[in-house]
Amino acid sequence: MPDTYRNPQPELFTWEFAADPYPAYAWLREHAPVHRTTLPSGVEAWLVTRYADARQALADGRLSKNPAHHSGQAHKTGRVGIPGERQADLMTHLLNIDPPDHTRLRRLVSKAFTPRRVAEFEPRVQQLTDRLIDDFAARGSADLIHEFAFPLPIYAICDLLGVPPEDQDDLRDWAGAMIRHHGGQRGGVGRAVKKIRTYLLELIHRKRADLGDDLISGLIRASDHGEHLTENEAAAMAFILLFAGFETTINLIGNGTYALLRNPVQRALLQESVQRGETELLATAVEELLRYDGPVELATWRFATEPLTIGGVDIPVGDPVLVVLAAADRDPARFAAENTLDLARKDNPHLGFGHGIHYCIGAPLARLEGQFALATLLTRLPDLQLAAEPDELRWRGGLIMRGLRELPVSFTPEI
Ligand code: HEM
Repeated sequence: MPDTYRNPQPELFTWEFAADPYPAYAWLREHAPVHRTTLPSGVEAWLVTRYADARQALADGRLSKNPAHHSGQAHKTGRVGIPGERQADLMTHLLNIDPPDHTRLRRLVSKAFTPRRVAEFEPRVQQLTDRLIDDFAARGSADLIHEFAFPLPIYAICDLLGVPPEDQDDLRDWAGAMIRHHGGQRGGVGRAVKKIRTYLLELIHRKRADLGDDLISGLIRASDHGEHLTENEAAAMAFILLFAGFETTINLIGNGTYALLRNPVQRALLQESVQRGETELLATAVEELLRYDGPVELATWRFATEPLTIGGVDIPVGDPVLVVLAAADRDPARFAAENTLDLARKDNPHLGFGHGIHYCIGAPLARLEGQFALATLLTRLPDLQLAAEPDELRWRGGLIMRGLRELPVSFTPEI
């Protein structure tokens, strides 16, 4: 009997799949590594699941990021791209453009969003992390998504951008409305994007008159061969920094903490190491958590601008290609013991932050937040444990991101 009958193709995009997509990805990697499927939105797309193919596709200049190259024109109905962005002129952000525009904008933002700016931000991330834990530490229980993983990245990026403290709760609520969209409540997202856009344009206008040390002022100041960002470009840039750095980091903290709580031996090793004040295992641990159950399940959309072949399969012009980072990062052809969480893993060139010219520009900030969040949780709440059965937990059913809706935990209250 052929293998495919004994082991039939698993259903994709169901609730069971959302809770644990890895067996389905293993099947695809083995039987249909470049697989055409119909997404829940009705859009047809190719899923690329093997590591070598994924890495090649992410760096292939024939795959455009501009949704106008989609032969199905689904971008006109808002079914590809970031939800709601069509309602605002925020389309010209880094994840939707190709060189030479991408090269110019990326160079400008890199001048403002420097590793030094992120390093100087360390004390603020520690302070934010502690303040959030203070709010629930005496209670003995918490929902780590709502009370910790959700607010930390939004306050961090607001601070970095230079959003005044009194406005940050508004941004938090609008960003929250954007991610609730993934739970199926589509209506609010367009309104939320509109509010964020109006707010950012107004903030950029104010900053232009009174430049400070923040990232938005840095974006306004940055120039390249005499070229500056226009106000719309600066707003699109601030928007993508907010959007790309928000749900991703929630999921790094949420998925990461969950993986640690389910792997007690690994968690104990990390806990002892951070309690000794070491940083080496913490650094490899965050990389391994990005590989093992990373925040970005599928890289954002790409569209074939000329006929090309991936993994021996011909992709017609105009077809969307989705690189499945979560599948590539568990490819046994690249990672030994691919389904094992090994926080000390050294050979770990995971694709969790992408690859090629669109490689995550926020990676240093994400690593900083991930490391501080996990180290502080394990140090301050040493007997932290799950307060729900794994099958009671709900996963957010988005296409691009992979993350928990809630993470109930219990611990000995701090006095
Ligand atoms: C791009 C992952 C945090 C800003 C990307 C890409 C991935 C990714 C996979 C490439 C997407 C593609 O090629 O289709 C992550 C993960 C994060 C994270 C896993 C957290 C753990 C952040 C943060 C920021 C950020 C904190 C900003 C503050 C961006 C931007 C891009 C990007 C602007 C587009 C870069 C370009 O197109 O040149 N990210 N990201 N990300 N990320 Fe992140």
